[in-house]
Amino acid sequence: MKKETLIDDLEQVIGYIKNSRNLSKEDKEKITNETIEYTKTNLNPGWLDYRKSVSENYAIVEWADGGDAFYDLYGQKYMDFLGGYGIFTAGHRNPEILNPILKQLDRQPMNSQELLEPLRGYLAKIMAEITPGNLHNIFFTSGGAEAVEMALKLAKLASGKQWFISAVNAFHGKSFGALSVTGKNMYRAPYLPLLQQVQHVEYGNAEAMETAIKNLIAVGESVAAVILEPIQGEAGVMIPPEGYLKKVREICDQYGILLILDEIQTGMGRTGTMWRCEAEDVVPDIMCFGKSFGGGLCPATGIMFKEALLVNEMAEDPCLLGSPTFAGNPLSSVASLATIRYMLKNDIPGMCKRKGAIILSKLKNLQKKYPEILIDFRGAGLLIAMEFENSDIGYFVAKHLFSKKILTAGTLNNAKTIRIEPPAVISEEAIDVLGQELDNVFEQVRAEFIEKKEAIK
Ligand SMILES: Cc1ncc(COP(=O)(O)O)c(C=O)c1O
Repeated sequence: MKKETLIDDLEQVIGYIKNSRNLSKEDKEKITNETIEYTKTNLNPGWLDYRKSVSENYAIVEWADGGDAFYDLYGQKYMDFLGGYGIFTAGHRNPEILNPILKQLDRQPMNSQELLEPLRGYLAKIMAEITPGNLHNIFFTSGGAEAVEMALKLAKLASGKQWFISAVNAFHGKSFGALSVTGKNMYRAPYLPLLQQVQHVEYGNAEAMETAIKNLIAVGESVAAVILEPIQGEAGVMIPPEGYLKKVREICDQYGILLILDEIQTGMGRTGTMWRCEAEDVVPDIMCFGKSFGGGLCPATGIMFKEALLVNEMAEDPCLLGSPTFAGNPLSSVASLATIRYMLKNDIPGMCKRKGAIILSKLKNLQKKYPEILIDFRGAGLLIAMEFENSDIGYFVAKHLFSKKILTAGTLNNAKTIRIEPPAVISEEAIDVLGQELDNVFEQVRAEFIEKKEAIK
């Protein structure tokens, strides 16, 4: 393509953004068609069939958002019961977070990387205040998997030991180290061998964990850390038995092993307390955080760790663990500072707890009415899952909800368990609509799946 044509194309796209609220019908059609075409040819055609949006209508292009909803290119409103898989806890484009970011954009979005960065310092100090126990030092990253990488590296560096114990079905991200401790066969298989010194044990079973550790030590190996999600999110909101994390903490202390808790999904108020480990009264040695840490406006993640882990080599060379270009940049730091301010002022953890309880009580009533359809449901705060007998039923439910402009997380590939993970600011009216639409669709499921099946018998 000629340079002039490329520049014209670029002018057009940037024009769409400048003029985003006044696009013509032709513009909207062109954007839709070109989005489909370029996704197919220059991204990966698989994205179209993957149908994350639970719809066969590819023409739904996401264009704007605000509060507890997002809007397509034609201005149709969708109630967000997915929350970007956990990033929108503080809502969409929350003005209390957006406005400081806009001010910072005007002043200095990125920094030289050479001088000291004040906002990074303030954020580090605040994080030491709002994280449990004696978690004291911070290392910033930009993605969740990247935070997990740093947690694993820090555990090795600080302990001088080698092995990691993780859990079956765990999800810690898809970069090499994070994938190595992830416990999902499907994601791991094409990349084997991964990190070799990882032992996966059954989640929720402290005895299995202790046995694995004992056996490794018995054969002369050394264990650096245990890494766990306090609730397994991606696995389908699996809540471990009460006391499990406490027992794991005791085992780690007994064998001199570090405990890494991955609070990327469960933290920042999502599960009804600022951090899930607080609800379990457990303090990890290293804690990963991310997702809604940037307020749904900037990518921001990181790890908090105990001061004792800041070993001499790391203090002498602060780049030894890592030196990611964009981590702790001023824009992301403002986003996180404003998010924390908003969460503390408005008791967002409490809001998640209260609204989560309303949703769970609706699910309880629905289960009483449709026990053969909603075979299980579970949740903590606004991290909730509904379970169906099979993916077909789940997909039918998610598809119906989407047709009523309610987004949940059911895909054609995996809809046996559907997650409900809305922003804390989700309105109670929206929760009522969700309850009503679930009732409507369960009635249809009964007719389509259960009664038809019985008639065939
Ligand atoms: C618990 C947990 N850890 C790590 C990650 C990976 O984060 P990212 O997708 O930002 O790399 C996720 C993502 O869903 C997660 O839920």
